[in-house]
Amino acid sequence: MISVRQLSKRHGERRVLEGVTAEVTRGESIAIVGPSGGGKSTLLRCLNYLETFEAGAIDIAGFQLRPDTGAVAPETLRALRVKVGMVFQTWNLFPHLTALENITLAPRIVRQRPVGEANEAAHALLAKVGLADRGGAYPHELSGGQQQRIAIARALAQDPEVMLFDEPTSALDPEMRDDVMQVMRTLAEGGMTMLVVTHEMQFAHDVASRVWVIDRGTIAEDGAPDRVVDHPETAVAREFFARLRAGRRP
Ligand SMILES: Nc1ncnc2c1ncn2[C@@H]1O[C@H](COP(=O)(O)OP(=O)(O)OP(=O)(O)O)[C@@H](O)[C@H]1O
Ligand SMILES: [Mg+2]
Repeated sequence: MISVRQLSKRHGERRVLEGVTAEVTRGESIAIVGPSGGGKSTLLRCLNYLETFEAGAIDIAGFQLRPDTGAVAPETLRALRVKVGMVFQTWNLFPHLTALENITLAPRIVRQRPVGEANEAAHALLAKVGLADRGGAYPHELSGGQQQRIAIARALAQDPEVMLFDEPTSALDPEMRDDVMQVMRTLAEGGMTMLVVTHEMQFAHDVASRVWVIDRGTIAEDGAPDRVVDHPETAVAREFFARLRAGRRP
């Protein structure tokens, strides 16, 4: 489903990713952790071509991404981002549209699904994220956690093959994180292929099928949660999980 080979990326003189190589098979859920500035967000952004890269190759959901050798056609990018959904730390819902309208917008406009059909699918997604009765609410009438769940439903409405999450709960108050995490857990258990940058120990340990520790632009550790989280081999991973356990932000 995803193959990353010798991926390298710079910002000016700074090397942000250095020869990242990894494979993800369908249905895996990968927790991506590691110290701030290590390159986690950059890696995710490369996977749906929000960032170009200088060297290496990415194959994802049937698309072949290669180093920046010219403009990629807008329709290719759009098709890629349908197949590879992304949810960010902040949710960026359209403020003038209801929750339901936020979810149905892309299916109606981009995929030209009939309104009735798009609404029906959206209602099922609202139920899936635990907000069956809030379809008519505007974003400002919803809590942060509810808005994030709508953002997840909006991405799912495109029928993605892969979902990328960049710290989906870190902008939320602790009491709202559980509902969002529950949605992520259900998605993972349902077989969605997902890559999740997260500081949630519970996700990394109990939900993810694999954990990557990213440090200074490389994957320092890649293994099953009970191996990487409970028995880290590198100093950076040991320190990272110790900080998490102590309740400190890494
Ligand atoms: N647009 C940019 N211009 C220059 N440097 C950048 C840019 N975006 C990211 N970087 C640098 O690339 C490195 C990796 O950043 P990235 O955001 O991928 O880290 P991260 O692992 O997601 O960190 P965090 O946990 O803080 O979110 C950092 O040193 C950062 O300063
Ligand atoms: Mg980041």
